[in-house]
Amino acid sequence: MKRKDPIPEYVVRGVQSEGELRAANDLMAKTQLPNYWDSLGWLESAGPVWAGVKREHTRIALADAEMVGALRLLPLTLRIGRARLKAVGVGWVSTPPAQRNKGVCRALMNDALDYTRDSGAAFSLLYGIPNLYHRFGYVTMLPEYSVVVELRAVDTTLVPPFRVRPVTKDDISALMRIHEAHEARASCSIVRTAAHYRSQFISAAPKTPYWCDWASAQALLDGRGKIVAYFMPQTAAAELHIKELGVTDRTSCAALLHAATITAREAGLGSVRFHVPPYHPFARYLEECDSVHQARHFANREGMMALTDLEACLNAMLPEWKEQMQRKGLNGLPGECTLVVSNAACRVISDNSGLRIEKGMGRNRIALDGQDFVRLVTGYTHAEDVLTQKTPRLKGDARRFALALFPKRTPFIWPIDHF
Ligand SMILES: CC(C)(COP(=O)(O)OP(=O)(O)OC[C@H]1O[C@@H](n2cnc3c(N)ncnc32)[C@H](O)[C@@H]1OP(=O)(O)O)[C@@H](O)C(=O)NCCC(=O)NCCS
Repeated sequence: MKRKDPIPEYVVRGVQSEGELRAANDLMAKTQLPNYWDSLGWLESAGPVWAGVKREHTRIALADAEMVGALRLLPLTLRIGRARLKAVGVGWVSTPPAQRNKGVCRALMNDALDYTRDSGAAFSLLYGIPNLYHRFGYVTMLPEYSVVVELRAVDTTLVPPFRVRPVTKDDISALMRIHEAHEARASCSIVRTAAHYRSQFISAAPKTPYWCDWASAQALLDGRGKIVAYFMPQTAAAELHIKELGVTDRTSCAALLHAATITAREAGLGSVRFHVPPYHPFARYLEECDSVHQARHFANREGMMALTDLEACLNAMLPEWKEQMQRKGLNGLPGECTLVVSNAACRVISDNSGLRIEKGMGRNRIALDGQDFVRLVTGYTHAEDVLTQKTPRLKGDARRFALALFPKRTPFIWPIDHF
């Protein structure tokens, strides 16, 4: 794509009035999904009720006071084990056709990254179109996981003693408890609060094949009326998708498989695709059935993240790292490594007073670009591979220390939390 010169100067800022917000929503709805009214409906009613969203999160690019582009930001908290990391999501990146290839998107993305950094967030997260966002420092790190079960492989003659009914807003605390119980092994999954659930319940998503919705979710209740499992079915042409689910024990896994199979059969479909990560107890339960377990990796598109603040990231990682060191019997072991990421340097120091982060250069340097670091800290890549390639001379205790900080993990964000 050839850029027309000269590149105009843009002012990029948050919208400042209802009129500007309406114009920005109109621009984004026209530029994005084929259905203008679905998009506008989401931007005007569903998006603004998401927990933590402010008016200034709708960012616009202006050229001589004309609005030439817009995007939406969304504040998020991500988990990596015990760590809780502030992040800002980016969505609806839009330049109308007449303004394209003149640097509008670049100006919007630079502003989004500055805004994220200024808000003290460690990461910027987005779901990207192919081959665009790497140039702004993002790297793909969210594979999609699913397990496919053919209906003919499931015995539905034994009916588990559970009642099925639609999920309601009154179930939020039960849903939260079930979800939380299995997320410790996730990397990057979004930390849900009651407000997060409430906003998702209000924001009935547009009925496009991509978005799933709590309005369709079903709860499974035991004999005492307690929710023991839930699932969110979505019919597609070839299979039934279950894009969100929760279980409590093996019996509830059997009940969920039964309920999903019946739902698929009633819809005239031959298989069910459970969008569930491999660490989840339901995926492990399905390993005992006839099933196909898939991991789909993407190159330079879909779930991508950029590092915006190394020090904030490392400080947020401390509770998780302390846990890792304890688990590996390395507590109090003297150790140090210096992470040099892009132009920032921070030391991770372990001694008898514990584990701490200090700004600046120190021993055992590991120099990485932001993209390699994102993949390392989220556990997308194997630390052995990164260290062998980037710091072949890091040996002995120093290497052992670095390996303890960066175990292999499973980055995963549940489809209902996509934005
Ligand atoms: C994608 C989109 C935002 C790009 O906007 P733009 O203002 O034309 O982009 P810019 O002129 O700032 O280009 C920035 C860089 O991205 C590249 N680029 C532009 N459009 C691209 C595209 N569709 N795919 C891949 N790269 C693209 C440019 O070549 C340029 O690269 P360079 O700086 O290395 O030379 C715009 O085409 C659009 O609104 N498309 C429809 C909506 C959409 O798909 N949004 C993205 C949602 S994830």
